[in-house]
Amino acid sequence: MSPAGGTGIVPAASGTGVRGVAARIGPFERHTEKYDTRFSRNWRAYRSELEAVRIMLPHGRRSLEIGVGTGRFAALLGIRIGVEPSQSMARIARERGVRVIGGIAEDLPLRGDQFDLALMVTILCFLDDVDGALREAHRVLSAGGSLVVGFVDRDSPVGRVYQERSGETLFYREAAFCSGKEVDCRLKSAGFHSLAYGQTIFTDPGQIRELEPIREGYGEGCFAVARGMK
Ligand SMILES: C[S@@+](CC[C@H](N)C(=O)[O-])C[C@H]1O[C@@H](n2cnc3c(N)ncnc32)[C@H](O)[C@@H]1O
Repeated sequence: MSPAGGTGIVPAASGTGVRGVAARIGPFERHTEKYDTRFSRNWRAYRSELEAVRIMLPHGRRSLEIGVGTGRFAALLGIRIGVEPSQSMARIARERGVRVIGGIAEDLPLRGDQFDLALMVTILCFLDDVDGALREAHRVLSAGGSLVVGFVDRDSPVGRVYQERSGETLFYREAAFCSGKEVDCRLKSAGFHSLAYGQTIFTDPGQIRELEPIREGYGEGCFAVARGMK
């Protein structure tokens, strides 16, 4: 059975998996449980981010999360297929009911023109080739399909603190955060149109005492969500 067996999703005939581009997966592979339990400890931030993504999702059945991690977003958003280079992250996502295909965003092991939605949450900052990954997302979407990207906005007040402290953290040491403006330019260059933005997390996550509001645009919330259409 193919990795995507039973879903109607068609892997590429010559899927290249994780070969070719060095995926920055080391900390995720080694400290998977630690990564995953952060969502339970910081559940108000998690629920706020989940909701900010949920309201940007288009209708459509055939959906994919690229860099699905442990499936924290895919599982609760009804996304059944994920691509992920870290085997230990993928194992937990599978336990959550996501069918995970090994591979990287820059070289998706999937045939083109087959999804209504491609989601990427907090992976842009780990990619060696952001533009290549956005072109790949564009390739696998059907005409009229949407890419939804959740990212740490480097230009937001809390995002600036994240950027300053990233060297001290286990998971974000290697991260290169983008600004909303950069994401906007890159999405347009990759061929996306009808761009829309939402944002949340206006408080330092350690200080969050209730769910954070969700507002339009970017530049203020640490977690921004972009949507573009093919
Ligand atoms: C911060 S985690 C986010 C996981 C998940 N999207 C979430 O929000 O919980 C970053 C994920 O990107 C994956 N990753 C790193 N390099 C990648 C690449 N080149 N292509 C796809 N995923 C990659 C890591 O293995 C990790 O699972």
